[in-house]
Amino acid sequence: MFKEATLYSPVIKEDNGIVSVVFSRDHPGYNDPQYQKHRAAIADAALRHVPGRPAPYIAYTEEEHATWRTVGAELTAKHRTYGCREFLAGVERLALPADRLPQLSEASATIRRATGFTLSPAAGLVGVRDFYGSLADRRFQATQYVRHASMPRFSPEPDMIHEVVGHGSHLANPRLAALYELIGRTVRRLESDEAVALVSRVFWFTMESGLVREDGGVKALGASLLSSCAELEQFRQATIRPLDVAAMAALPYQVESYQPVLFCADSFTHLEDFLAGFLAAVTDDSPLVAA
Ligand SMILES: [Fe+2]
Repeated sequence: MFKEATLYSPVIKEDNGIVSVVFSRDHPGYNDPQYQKHRAAIADAALRHVPGRPAPYIAYTEEEHATWRTVGAELTAKHRTYGCREFLAGVERLALPADRLPQLSEASATIRRATGFTLSPAAGLVGVRDFYGSLADRRFQATQYVRHASMPRFSPEPDMIHEVVGHGSHLANPRLAALYELIGRTVRRLESDEAVALVSRVFWFTMESGLVREDGGVKALGASLLSSCAELEQFRQATIRPLDVAAMAALPYQVESYQPVLFCADSFTHLEDFLAGFLAAVTDDSPLVAA
């Protein structure tokens, strides 16, 4: 994950090696010491992960598997109605289990066979250059924790469900995987933080919250939309605009509530052409993005 939410629970490693996760008062897990302990163990496993090895095995609780079943059933039904074709092709290729949470390593193995991408564990927030740079190597850094069971339809942070259902389905599709890699390669060649921020903004309005026209209707393409039951109900209420880099750069970064403005490609090919054109043209002197 990268900075796509306003609420992050920082991971702290003390001098004695003890890893903890700091939860804010408005986090649904704030008063749940067992959840916090579990989250710390998951973060610790990610910090101990050796690059190139499979992601660590996580002993998910029965409550977490139940959250997956609840959210998964609702998302699967909504995907049939609102998901774009390329996303659905990725869903089919990934073939996630319906009855239990998959391990990140399992999903990664399937994605690797499909497109060469792998999923590697992220303990918490990953810096933008690190996150995007790894895409150039066909590696996606993903969280392994699961949202708190008290709020299965909402996660204040990008959790495993977002990563695997949203991005994992993208990365199992060769056309989408190629776009992720291109974004990564572009970030690698940029030197200014402002230019990277512009790429990140375009990523947000396409791969996270983008839409695409199909057969006269508007379908969801973005991983954030497609991994959120609530957002899949809301996105048709947004103001829908054509793909436009300048308009994306001028829009404030809004992740704490529903996006009031979303961008829609005329077709998937249009999205590919738009991103290829933008990524080839972006330089360290490109216009700045709004805060
Ligand atoms: Fe994401």
